[in-house]
Amino acid sequence: MLSGVPVATQPADLVGDLPGDFVERVNGLLERIEEGLAEAAVAETDFVTEAARHIIQAGGKRFRPLLVVLAGLIAEEPDEDAIVRAALVMELTHVASLYHDDVMDEAELRRGAPTANRRWDNTVAILVGDFLFSRASSIVSTLGTDYVRLQSDTFARLVQGQIAETRGPLPGADLLDHYLNVLADKTGSLIAASAIFGGMVAGAPRPVLDALAAYGEEIGVVFQLSDDIIDIDSDSSGKTPGTDLRAGVPTLPTLLARRSSDAGDARLLSLLDADLSAEADLAEALGLMRAHPAMTEARDEVTRRAEVARSLLDPLPEGPAKAALSALCDGVISRSS
Ligand code: IPE
Ligand code: IPE
Ligand code: MG
Ligand code: MG
Repeated sequence: MLSGVPVATQPADLVGDLPGDFVERVNGLLERIEEGLAEAAVAETDFVTEAARHIIQAGGKRFRPLLVVLAGLIAEEPDEDAIVRAALVMELTHVASLYHDDVMDEAELRRGAPTANRRWDNTVAILVGDFLFSRASSIVSTLGTDYVRLQSDTFARLVQGQIAETRGPLPGADLLDHYLNVLADKTGSLIAASAIFGGMVAGAPRPVLDALAAYGEEIGVVFQLSDDIIDIDSDSSGKTPGTDLRAGVPTLPTLLARRSSDAGDARLLSLLDADLSAEADLAEALGLMRAHPAMTEARDEVTRRAEVARSLLDPLPEGPAKAALSALCDGVISRSS
């Protein structure tokens, strides 16, 4: 079990009921990945090791490693050592981006623990993020140039998604389109790359790799849509509820609520444009958002797109890995429902 995350978000819970020997194999690989993560964080000084292990050891769902493992297990006898290394690359890239994201978002809580920027400062958080990214680069070099290229292109997309979110839409651009493109780039890209990495290790043929890419991209967007709902409606995510609201970051529920012309929504709409740094204002905005029909609409969109993701799995060979990737769609739906 990972520390710091609620039991309902342990990796194996995201894939539901599957044959026992398959689950054992997945869990065995996830354990090796945990050991690899702790090892990858070892630096030349105790301080850097501690700071680099801080967010890794706080837990997390290990969603990207899980995807690498499940896609890798499409093959009956995949190179398990390569699956572990590919998963490490994805999780280290993810964790590095979280160190940086928490600086950008001035976040205080991550995986139920104080963020690195709060526990130390922004400089430490930024440099430790860079350090973990360098570890990911070193490991990906052992897998081959195709993997290096995909990881670099993915990271370039992720960073541009973060920049696009920070800059906001250009004047006249459609807000929803901008938001969905940001989601695809900042989150879908790395989740898609995780599914493709697994398929590459499995030696999957081109049509299967393409299906994994399309599935990963779609489930990645669904994952972030669901995370954005959780930002509003959950008090047990391990992050501070309302972080997006307070920062004025648009999300599907707030974009849908803003479309309302109902007079009863006037207070909510004015709060969405207001400074929510005071606790009472944020609490009021959260309360009104939680009760708003836009939340149901956003959840319906999560379900609809999770079903699209599931349908994209059709070209995969039948077997427990495909069943697990399909069950993951239900896992993502239920996180925010
Ligand atoms: C957080 O990712 C950032 C997003 C892209 C939503 P996760 O929700 O996978 O965070 P951890 O890894 O479980 O902490
Ligand atoms: C994080 O997006 C995306 C990346 C780290 C690339 P968010 O800012 O929405 O994620 P959380 O809510 O802090 O996890
Ligand atoms: Mg954030
Ligand atoms: Mg952010």
